[in-house]
Amino acid sequence: MTLRENPIGVFDSGIGGLTVVSQIIKMLPHENIVYFGDTARVPYGNKSAEVVKGYAVQDTRFLVSKDVKLIVVACNTASALAMDVVRVHSKVPAIGVIEPTVKEAASLVGDRGIGVIGTLSTINSCAYSTALNRLDKGVKIMTKACPLFVPLAEEGLFDHPVADLMSREYLSEFSGRIDVMILGCTHYPLLSGPISRALGSGIKLLDSGEATARAVKELLSQSGMLNDQKSKPRYEFYVSDFPQKFNEIAESFLGQRLEFVRKVDVLAELDIK
Ligand code: DGL
Repeated sequence: MTLRENPIGVFDSGIGGLTVVSQIIKMLPHENIVYFGDTARVPYGNKSAEVVKGYAVQDTRFLVSKDVKLIVVACNTASALAMDVVRVHSKVPAIGVIEPTVKEAASLVGDRGIGVIGTLSTINSCAYSTALNRLDKGVKIMTKACPLFVPLAEEGLFDHPVADLMSREYLSEFSGRIDVMILGCTHYPLLSGPISRALGSGIKLLDSGEATARAVKELLSQSGMLNDQKSKPRYEFYVSDFPQKFNEIAESFLGQRLEFVRKVDVLAELDIK
């Protein structure tokens, strides 16, 4: 039986999903969380749908083995390519980042339209455009893959001149042409300074983590599954490689000491040869 105290399960290709976790912690401070970051196989954003689906199934099964009450696919690439298989392998509800984000974008758009930036695989999948068109057939959409943003963020160059340079290179074509820019990748909120400078004023940046955390809260409250225990929540972070590096980044990003960060061999745990 799934209980209210059971954790929310979150997975991502690596550290990027912490942008989603931080929003969940902000909005749902009493929820227990189990996070899996696939740091051994990151990036997902330039891999084929077949490969990403395979990884997402394993990530999902690992979280299910931790008795989560809900699965949040924090990774935009996995949300774009693999929600179908995640749902097949999860006996609990699963939320990706795309549906909540497009809902919010559609409520904010004016006459100009919506921009979407993400990894190559997310943009090539057209998952955001398809979901936006489903909500609003006439909406103008501009999309662009920005593959160098992930390594820039991983290197911590959040406010470095090279991030400004790359943002201008990728984004100048959006200036004055959209109302809302969807940051369709876990890492992009970390570069919101250079991105908004390159876009200029009058364009709202939409963080998919924030929209998703709101959707998580709504789903749990509607299904009566919010944790009503007010004790200190338990956070467990599992990664497939480099737990030390993950720990350092996560502690500085979340602004708290983490008691539980472990390396895990997901294939061995799931008995996959
Ligand atoms: N987590 C990925 C995403 O949101 C970015 C990093 C990667 O390519 O794996 O699309």
